[in-house]
Formats: sequence, structure tokens, C-alpha cells
Amino acid sequence: MKYAERMKRLGTESAFDVLVKAKSLEAKGMEVIHLEIGEPDFATPANICDAAIEAIRGGFTHYNPSPGYPDVREVVSDYINRTRGIKTNFRNVVITPGGKPIMFFTMLALVNEGEEVIFPNPGFPIYESIINFIGAKAVPIYLREENDYRLDVKELKSLVTPKTKLIIINSPQNPTGGVLTHNDLEEIAGIAVEKDVWILSDEIYSRIIYEAKFESVTQFPGALERTIILDGMSKTYAMTGWRLGYGVMEETLAAHVARLATNSTSCTASFSQIAMKEAITGPQEESDKMVAEFKKRRDVIVAGLNKIDGFTCKKPLGAFYAYPNITGTGWKSKDLADFILEKYGVAALSGTAFGSFGEGYMRFSYANSIENIQKALSKVDAAIAKIKQSA
Ligand SMILES: Cc1ncc(COP(=O)(O)O)c(C=O)c1O
Repeated sequence: MKYAERMKRLGTESAFDVLVKAKSLEAKGMEVIHLEIGEPDFATPANICDAAIEAIRGGFTHYNPSPGYPDVREVVSDYINRTRGIKTNFRNVVITPGGKPIMFFTMLALVNEGEEVIFPNPGFPIYESIINFIGAKAVPIYLREENDYRLDVKELKSLVTPKTKLIIINSPQNPTGGVLTHNDLEEIAGIAVEKDVWILSDEIYSRIIYEAKFESVTQFPGALERTIILDGMSKTYAMTGWRLGYGVMEETLAAHVARLATNSTSCTASFSQIAMKEAITGPQEESDKMVAEFKKRRDVIVAGLNKIDGFTCKKPLGAFYAYPNITGTGWKSKDLADFILEKYGVAALSGTAFGSFGEGYMRFSYANSIENIQKALSKVDAAIAKIKQSA
């Protein structure tokens, strides 16, 4: 059998592969602590579940418009206006099954074959995968540890060519937890306006932020009309399995993206959208409590990782990932991740799962209990002691 050539260009998200491997080890009787997958371990708040159940009983079980229900899109645009200090309306919003389709749809709608897209490396692996899939050129921008994992705006400017169509930014960032500053964002907006390029601003972790303040690039002059904001329910409300996300963008692009939805997903589940309305407009205490708990866990895991021989770990300012430098172990990232999982039962990801510049790093998701994090830390410590002993 022969498959389409384009499939050779499509990558993947190895968190899902590691999850499968970890599950198979568990099936063989090994105890595994899961620090690989990027999803809150909390239950979806009860008020949101109740709204969905009521919606199902109330008949929200049929198709709805491809970009989503107008009143739910209105709730999203009000929320975005309030949290970013900008002016949008419901026609700027497209609701999708998770935030991920916004990456796919907007790149399909904007980027021609041979055009260039600048993306963060290390970064969410799906950006590079989609860029390659659509036949565009993937241009990585290095997020360096010494720059607190923020992109260097001078370097960004030097990477823009007449072929550049889109710049992808992600703050707070996966996998590093880095957060772009007010100045960074202002300069990024300036570059985009001057060079006439689009920005995909992945703001999925906008609410999971600690010492830093969340700001959106869209607040700066000229940026809003050339930016797609990607956000959603998955991380903020522990709703990864509900598949609820959205993009906010100028109206013509929104119409193109909605047409891509008509051609693929048709629409996002109707009762989910009713629950989304409740999530955004209802009480926010549960979500705030989750963030407070993540902060406690972050402090535990960062302190613990820094005590491990050969590891150093900066404090992430947002999201729920610790991203230690592991070069002091003398091991390659993927080999170390495999060893720790196979021999010690701790599932975490190699930095290289997030691009070539991830070599020398690992990602530990701290969306797990403090008890499990502490157990995992002592297992990793034992693994490294073993490595050092036999070196
Ligand atoms: C940076 C980033 N963007 C977007 C997503 C997509 O999330 P979802 O499709 O569940 O909304 C994720 C999920 O891990 C992510 O880490």
C-alpha cells in the first residue's frame, strides 16, 4: 500500500507516545509516576459539569454553526476584551474542538507553500509539524536558558525575510515556563507591523502564571489586526477531554477558519459550548485554587530537581512544567528519559521532544500530587546516583 507523500512531513507530540509506553509498563506490573502529559490532574469544576449535563437534557445535542454559537462567541470576545484590554466582537471568534485546530486552520488559511514561519524552539512540537506538513519552511528561534527562555527580539528581527508570513509566540511557554515581558511583546508587535507579518499568539497558559503578569501582544498598536489569539478551556478549567478552544482573529480570517471547520469538524460539540459559557462567566475559585496548588508543586519540584547531581532548574514563571538542564549528568536527553522511565518508573519527556534545541534538557509536568512529585524526585535521584556510580 502507498500513502500520501505529505504524511512523511507530519510530526507528532511524543507526550502521547511516552504515555502509551508508560501504560504498557504499568500493564506489566511496574509502578509508574506520570509526569509526561500536559494536563491538569484536577476534576473539571462541578458547576461546569452540571451546565453540560443540563444542556444535554435540554436538547443541545445537535449541530450548531461552524464557528460556534453566537452568544458563546460573544462571551469569549467579552472575556478576551476584559483580559487583554482590546476590542473584539463575536465575529472575531471561532470556537474549535480544543485550541490545537486553531494552529492547523490558521496556518492552512494563511501560509503558502515555500513561505516561512518562525516558531519557538524548544516549543510545542505541533507548530513545526504543521509548518512542514503544509509545505512551508520552518524557521526556529532559539529560546535560551540564559535569556530565561524568552526569545531574543534582535535575533527575531534578523530571522524575518521577505518570505516570512507568520511568527508563532507562546507565553507562558510550553515546555520552559518562560514568560515574555511587556518590552518583548512591544518589540515583537513592532517587528510584525514593520515587516507586515502575522502573529499566532498561543495564550493557552494565560491564566497559569505565578510571579509574572500575563500580557498579550495584541495590546500594542497595529498588532490586533495581524494576530490570532489561541486560548481555550483545557488548561484553565481542567477540561482537556472536553475539546474546547478558540481563536480570536480579524473577521475575514475568521470566516476562512470557520469554512475549514465546516470542511473538517463541522462544529464543536453543542453541550460543551454551553459548559464553556458557564466556565467563563461562573465562579472562578476552582480555577484560582488550581493555580495556587500548581505554584506549591512548582516550588517542590524545582527545589528537588536542583538537589539532583547533574541537574539545574530555573524557576518557571508560568504553565505547569519544570525544564531542568541535565547536561551535568553527561547523558543525552532522550536516553536519560528512557532510562528513568524503563528502570525507575518515572515518565517525563526529553527536551528534544520540543525541537532540536531541547537537547540537554528534560520536561517534567508537575500536574501531579506533591506526594507523587516527591516520590518521583527520589526515584530520579536514585537513577542519577546509579549512573554516576557506574561512570
Ligand atoms: C502550548 C500549547 N498550545 C496549545 C495546546 C492545545 O491544547 P488543547 O488543544 O487541548 O486546547 C497545548 C496542549 O498541550 C499546548 O501546550
